[in-house]
Amino acid sequence: MNVTDAIQSRISTRGFLDRPVCEEKVREVLKVARWAPSGGNLQPWKVHVVMGAGRARLIATVTKAIGDNPFADEAELAIYPPKLGEPWRSRRFAVGEEMYALLAIARDDKPARLQWLLKNYQFFGAPVGLFFSLPRQFDKGQWAHLGMFMQSLVLAAADKGLATCMQEAWAARAKTVSAFLGLSDDEQLYCGMALGYADPDAPVNKLRSSREEVDAFATFIRK
Ligand SMILES: Cc1cc2nc3c(=O)[nH]c(=O)nc-3n(C[C@H](O)[C@H](O)[C@H](O)COP(=O)(O)O)c2cc1C
Repeated sequence: MNVTDAIQSRISTRGFLDRPVCEEKVREVLKVARWAPSGGNLQPWKVHVVMGAGRARLIATVTKAIGDNPFADEAELAIYPPKLGEPWRSRRFAVGEEMYALLAIARDDKPARLQWLLKNYQFFGAPVGLFFSLPRQFDKGQWAHLGMFMQSLVLAAADKGLATCMQEAWAARAKTVSAFLGLSDDEQLYCGMALGYADPDAPVNKLRSSREEVDAFATFIRK
């Protein structure tokens, strides 16, 4: 798979086959991803991988913590700004509506939407979960490096036939997850990720989000 194909064919996969991914394969993906660049070569990223009984234990812990309070928010970072303006608001709305249409969940069916959102906390059925964190002393520069690492990982996974979904939803469970993973107080959890084999029959995997044309975001200064 060439780089262009990997970038353009990658999607956020939200339906996975019940097919394990061996540790060796996860290690191969991580071995490639570590070649992501970082300013000063700080390599500020840390990754925790949950699989097998570890994954089951984490899901059980988080499910218990969610309990009767699915809206409890342990996030330290706002996933979106409180007042998301245009054009970002419309883009967010559009991709959400397209996803719920594929899932055949109506707009006003709040319980069904909630049940779907809670599937994040089961990695959408993926056999492997990854968590990404950074030392708290780092600021925006290093957060960008972590992003580069995550995208590199996703592309390396795609090259091996593996599907992924980045999951900032886990940030809403940051305290519970950080305690489970044994992160020190100096380490801040950013995001989770589901990793596994895509279920080709899952309707939600038919979602193809749109992108703006180049001239909508790029400015060429020619003179
Ligand atoms: C950092 C990050 C966090 C995300 N968190 C979630 C999440 O918690 N749950 C989810 O279903 N999708 C999540 N997504 C997927 C985005 O919704 C998705 O990337 C976007 O709609 C574009 O679709 P595509 O990835 O299929 O191209 C996340 C994506 C990124 C980059």
